Amino acid sequence: MVSIIVAIAQNGTIGDKNSLLWHIKEDMRFFRTTTSGHAVIMGRKTFESLGSKPLPKRTNIVITRSERSFEGALTAHSLQEAIRMAGDDEEIFIIGGAQIYAEALTVADRMYITRVERDYEGDTSFPKIDYSVWKLLSEQRFERGEEYESPFAFMTYERR
Ligand SMILES: NC(=O)c1ccc[n+]([C@@H]2O[C@H](COP(=O)([O-])OP(=O)(O)OC[C@H]3O[C@@H](n4cnc5c(N)ncnc54)[C@H](OP(=O)(O)O)[C@@H]3O)[C@@H](O)[C@H]2O)c1
Repeated sequence: MVSIIVAIAQNGTIGDKNSLLWHIKEDMRFFRTTTSGHAVIMGRKTFESLGSKPLPKRTNIVITRSERSFEGALTAHSLQEAIRMAGDDEEIFIIGGAQIYAEALTVADRMYITRVERDYEGDTSFPKIDYSVWKLLSEQRFERGEEYESPFAFMTYERR
């Protein structure tokens, strides 16, 4: 199974200047526990946004059109190649950014969306989602986080 995992602001923003716009402890924890032990696939810019360091306890696969290689990560030249490289992992995670999500939306079986219920100004947005092809499986909403003051929700969707 191929899953997208992403945190999206109310106005669709996911990042700015190659970094995240919010820090929600609960979301970081959710991301870590959900993806640990699995393959994570990301674009070259997202890998750089993580300080060019692989996420621990996960097989990191970076997609680039160049011939570069990335320490601690496997390199793929397309999303399809990256998915093949993940081998027989029962759940492969697409962790961004916008360019990679745009391609992944047509192949993913599941989406874990953290809905950040605030607008953020940024230069990167999630592509438009056609919700008619996605079925909501679960929703867990929080009025605020331990340290984050706006509401957010963990939403899980599966392709119809
Ligand atoms: N909110 C969230 O959950 C979340 C999650 C992840 C990322 N983000 C944010 O998203 C932003 C980064 O997203 P982005 O869209 O700018 O970049 P990105 O998708 O992370 O990476 C783009 C790069 O991926 C490679 N690439 C893209 N399509 C390809 C293809 N078809 N074949 C081969 N290589 C391909 C290219 O690398 P080369 O240029 O090396 O060829 C391209 O420049 C950052 O602000 C980050 O913080 C947010």
